[in-house]
Amino acid sequence: MLKIAIINGPNLNLVGVREPSIYGCVGFEDYFNSLVKKFDGVELCFVQSNIEGEIVDYIQRFGFEVNGIVLNAAAYTHTSIAIADAVKAITAPVVEVHISNVYKREEQRHCSMLHGAVVGVIGGFGLFSYDLAISAIVDMASKK
Ligand code: DQA
Repeated sequence: MLKIAIINGPNLNLVGVREPSIYGCVGFEDYFNSLVKKFDGVELCFVQSNIEGEIVDYIQRFGFEVNGIVLNAAAYTHTSIAIADAVKAITAPVVEVHISNVYKREEQRHCSMLHGAVVGVIGGFGLFSYDLAISAIVDMASKK
């Protein structure tokens, strides 16, 4: 069975509560349960951390054992060379995901440290961005 890990960065534990006009009203755990039902042919797992080094650890841990990683590094997307280096160091393809359309927001969100390291970027579709990223990884794996 295909294995895909979702790694969420800082403040994404507050999705559903945090700025609902941007991030929506559904909590990530509830949404994750719907993903598990929808992608029943995929072994999905999900972790979240507010700490940069822990995100690096998760990328290293999953990066050699899963078929793909869906990474929403949240604010670290815009700042973290360490997370970009971790993405480059592993063998699993990584899809960068954002709930919001970062290009419609403040200028500091327009830059991603991860762009050069990931296979692709999906954002702006709310939590559905994660569905799209998982579908992209499933599609990539089917073409290998
Ligand atoms: C985010 C966008 C980032 O700019 C922000 O810092 C986040 C969430 C998104 O999913 O839209 O925390 O990654």
